[in-house]
Amino acid sequence: MLERPGNHKWDSETLTAKTFVTVATIDQVPAGSKKVVEVAGTEIVLCHSKDRIFAVRNLCSHASEKLDGGQMKAGWIACPVHGARFRLETGEAMNPPAVRPIETYEVLIDGDEIQVAV
Ligand code: FES
Repeated sequence: MLERPGNHKWDSETLTAKTFVTVATIDQVPAGSKKVVEVAGTEIVLCHSKDRIFAVRNLCSHASEKLDGGQMKAGWIACPVHGARFRLETGEAMNPPAVRPIETYEVLIDGDEIQVAV
C-alpha cells in the first residue's frame, strides 16, 4: 500500500484508489468497546481490541445475524446467536457453525478520526 495525501490510498497490486470515510473519533471507541456505524447503507462494527481499531461488517457469515452484540476479546468477535468466532484482522471463521469469513475493512487513523475504506 502506498499512502497519498488526503483520504485516498493506492493499492499497489491493483493500482486502484481506495476512499477512506471518517466514521467516528477515537474517543468514541474506547479500548475493549465496539461501535456500530453505517457507511453507504452498510453496517460496520468498529472494534477496539489488542490496541487496534478493526472494522468488520455487522453480519455473521453463518446465518446473517448481527455481530455487534457478541463478545469481543483478544482480536476476535463472537456471534451472539450460535457462538462462531471470527478473527477481527482477517475475518476468518475460527470455529463452527460458521465456515466462511466475515467481511473486513481497512482502517486508517487520521489524527483523532477513524476512517474506513469503502
Ligand atoms: S448466526 Fe452467527 S453463528 Fe449462527
